[in-house]
Amino acid sequence: MKKLVEVKDVCKVYNPGENEVRALDHVSLIIGEGEFVAIIGQSGSGKSTLMNMLGCLDTPTSGKYFLHGQDVSHMTDDEQSDVRNREIGFIFQGFNLIPSLTALENVELPLIYRGVGKKERELLSMNALSKVGLGQRMTHKPNEMSGGQQQRVAIARAIAQAPPILLADEPTGNLDSGSSREIISIIKKLYAEGRTVIIITHDPGIAKQARRIITISDGRIVSDIINPDYVEE
Ligand SMILES: Nc1ncnc2c1ncn2[C@@H]1O[C@H](COP(=O)(O)OP(=O)(O)OP(=O)(O)O)[C@@H](O)[C@H]1O
Ligand SMILES: [Mg+2]
Repeated sequence: MKKLVEVKDVCKVYNPGENEVRALDHVSLIIGEGEFVAIIGQSGSGKSTLMNMLGCLDTPTSGKYFLHGQDVSHMTDDEQSDVRNREIGFIFQGFNLIPSLTALENVELPLIYRGVGKKERELLSMNALSKVGLGQRMTHKPNEMSGGQQQRVAIARAIAQAPPILLADEPTGNLDSGSSREIISIIKKLYAEGRTVIIITHDPGIAKQARRIITISDGRIVSDIINPDYVEE
């Protein structure tokens, strides 16, 4: 298995000094290409901090992070944003869609930043929306869609340009159980197509859908197992 993510002895310390918070405390972790990993832990355990690190949205206080063998732990903001654009699709709990834009325009937006031309952009975005079952909703704005549909738009946005890594932070946190199941099943399909999927969650029910489960507590990895209950679809 080829290494995709390699985190080496990473610490993240907020407010160094008296009130310091050690959000990540000597974390080391390897994730191979094509894995399906859930990172689980209680509120405040450091999940989002880890996700921000893995997603090149933040840099560690100490330690190193290699993505595809490239040291991304000490890059400038611009360099990080290049890596993000190339490698990572994000799905957030709050969908993070732009209310004034249609579903199609929301999916297209990051492609505009990546310099993809109009025709190709539209094609990629329409394909992505069809893939998440929203082919009939492309001109709807976020407030004209259910939470589950909005999250599917966010997934379409994350996958439009087929990034190798899908990083999801509590992707079903704001959804009812029916919509959650839909979203998880879409995420599983993307995994089956060869994407590397990393889901961050505090919900054991979501975590046990993944093939590998990493548990974090107080900024440390306390368990890292192949899920015995994993069912291939
Ligand atoms: N910008 C910040 N400044 C100071 N402390 C922070 C900051 N961001 C996070 N923390 C602290 O770091 C620790 C880890 O936070 P983090 O957001 O990673 O937790 P989490 O596991 O994602 O929690 P939740 O499940 O509630 O989202 C917490 O104690 C939090 O208070
Ligand atoms: Mg969090």
